[in-house]
Amino acid sequence: MKVLIIGSGGREHTLAWKISQSPKLTKLYCAPGNAGTAIVAENVPIADNDIAGLKDFAVKNSIDLTIVGPEIPLVMGIVDEFEAAGLKIFGPSKAAAKIEGSKIFAKNLMHKYNIPTAEAIVYEKVEDALNFVKKVGTPIVIKVDGLAAGKGVFVAKDQKEAEEAVKRILVDKEFGAAGNKIIVEECLKGEEVSILAITDGETILPLASAQDHKRVFDRDEGPNTGGMGAYSPAPIATSELLNMVQEKVLKKTVAALKEAGIIYKGILYCGLMMTASGPMVLEFNCRFGDPETQVILPRMKNDLLEVILSTLDSRLSTIALDWDPRSAVCVVLAAGGYPGNYEKGIEIKGLDNVKDGVVFHAGTKAVDVKITTNGGRVLGVVGLGAPLKEAIRKAYDAVKQINFDKMHFRKDIGAKALK
Ligand code: AMP
Ligand code: GLY
Repeated sequence: MKVLIIGSGGREHTLAWKISQSPKLTKLYCAPGNAGTAIVAENVPIADNDIAGLKDFAVKNSIDLTIVGPEIPLVMGIVDEFEAAGLKIFGPSKAAAKIEGSKIFAKNLMHKYNIPTAEAIVYEKVEDALNFVKKVGTPIVIKVDGLAAGKGVFVAKDQKEAEEAVKRILVDKEFGAAGNKIIVEECLKGEEVSILAITDGETILPLASAQDHKRVFDRDEGPNTGGMGAYSPAPIATSELLNMVQEKVLKKTVAALKEAGIIYKGILYCGLMMTASGPMVLEFNCRFGDPETQVILPRMKNDLLEVILSTLDSRLSTIALDWDPRSAVCVVLAAGGYPGNYEKGIEIKGLDNVKDGVVFHAGTKAVDVKITTNGGRVLGVVGLGAPLKEAIRKAYDAVKQINFDKMHFRKDIGAKALK
């Protein structure tokens, strides 16, 4: 089979690495890819939001299956476009991807079907939103309705921060039209966990659990990032919790969408907060998580290509997912300044010295014989081991081999799970 993977981050290198191990594969492309995907696939210089360009490439090269990494092309409707052209593609349709593309759509669905989530109200006018914040008090959470590359959520600890967030979204239009409406939401407390599931619209198979580390500094301090590291499994995700999520969240969500005439096929990602009154949904994503994928797929024993084809053929019920019992830990190596401004084009050294572990590239570029930085999150270094402590040690041993100017990373990935 000829397969095309769309995207250029750590998640896509991990997908390409995993798919490249499938005996069914004959040729793998990645658009646009990075220096890591170039090791296991042929990169094609087409942007992930150039749907016409991607479709044209898939037709001309007789691509048998396209796998979409990021949310933007999914929310734009790449799946509908490819299917209309008779092309096989893995991911939810435009209507289904709205579960990530509009936080208001997702919230309404959850409220209507009693899926546990924070109470929330939608606002378009600054005064109305601020009056509400004054009335209910802080802390409070303010969210941009549309896609905001992970930057559209503000957890305001006082009135001043709430006012500033509302102003940035509704007045300064920092998020453009994605911020025409906001959600003002009850602030939940607890530990977070990501549960990703694969579904053909009928069968729902949860993947191994994972926990992301969103804050830039150790002990969860500093601003939010795209994710500074992850581990899988998350001990907090007990089988009791997983059952609860399957029954109260995943099944209900897929059924609710079906009632609206939407068959959800693809990955359904739930970001959950473990509150005193049980797990609550913080957000849905319509795709694999990044960096969760970097710790989930190295533990998957199945042929991912086969699992995806089963989903597309609506025979996911015939699949049993099988996981390596060892833990996986991913430490993200970021560029100096990230998640703020950072330089690109810095040479990365020592990649070949890593012997026990896998290095997934995120923001990297091959320039002649060198590999240079090309983004904020540069690499995801993964260690596998049992117990978790051993996986942590292996990941950090591998990190020691690599270096680039102004590189920074968290020193406490996985530490929370050891307690
Ligand atoms: P989201 O993109 O909705 O997952 O939000 C990003 C981050 O904001 C989450 O991972 C949480 O840390 C935080 N967050 C989102 N919603 C809430 C909430 N209702 N209460 C507390 N924290 C939240
Ligand atoms: N790790 C968070 C996300 O993929 O959205």
